Amino acid sequence: MNALIIAIDGPSASGKGTIARRLAAHFDFAHLDTGLLYRAVGLAVLKSGGDPSNTADATQAARALSPKSLNAEDPGLREDSTAQAASKVAAIPEVRRALLQFQKDFAAHPPGDKKGAVLDGRDIGTVIAPGAKVKIYITASKEARIQRRFKELQERGGNVTYAAVLRDMQARDARDAKRVVAPAKPAPDAVILDTTEMTAEESYAAALKIASEVLAAD
Ligand code: C5P
Repeated sequence: MNALIIAIDGPSASGKGTIARRLAAHFDFAHLDTGLLYRAVGLAVLKSGGDPSNTADATQAARALSPKSLNAEDPGLREDSTAQAASKVAAIPEVRRALLQFQKDFAAHPPGDKKGAVLDGRDIGTVIAPGAKVKIYITASKEARIQRRFKELQERGGNVTYAAVLRDMQARDARDAKRVVAPAKPAPDAVILDTTEMTAEESYAAALKIASEVLAAD
């Protein structure tokens, strides 16, 4: 039987990660945060003193990565410097190629014998799982996303300014949208969910409604 795949894409601070995790828990599906793979590659390059924009440095780190043994709890993965490095390595075709099969396999054969998988990222509906049953592109206005990220970083107790969040998010969004391979964009058949005016709870409820309707129609 083909696995049921829920593809969640969207820009940074759109809320897609939380929504994807909650959908996976609701449907008892496996969940893969694909951003973590790029973050892990970016962090590995930074740790080794390399340059995330350098093809050789980034490709070597991507090929050395063992996605199955990735420690998602490593706080270094959540740093903003890591996010910036992630979007630099993510623009390199060899890096994307090195991470492709693991993601496709996860979607096609969800671990733990689950009957489905939720993957979230930037290219799930377009490249990783173009045949996904459910595709949702979660977005929000740039102002709302900056506000959310700013609040999140403040709550974490970081020394952060609104101007720095704005600058970093703009740089990352631009890099993700303009890259030649797998640019971040909605699949033509994705449902667009704009959460600008929604709370986190409302956004999740809206995504759950979309996914439930599509899965029930099967
Ligand atoms: O989603 P998250 O913010 O953790 O992703 C970090 C970076 O990884 C993104 O800015 C993007 O450049 C890259 N990414 C990607 N494709 C994905 C997931 C993330 O290019 N499927």
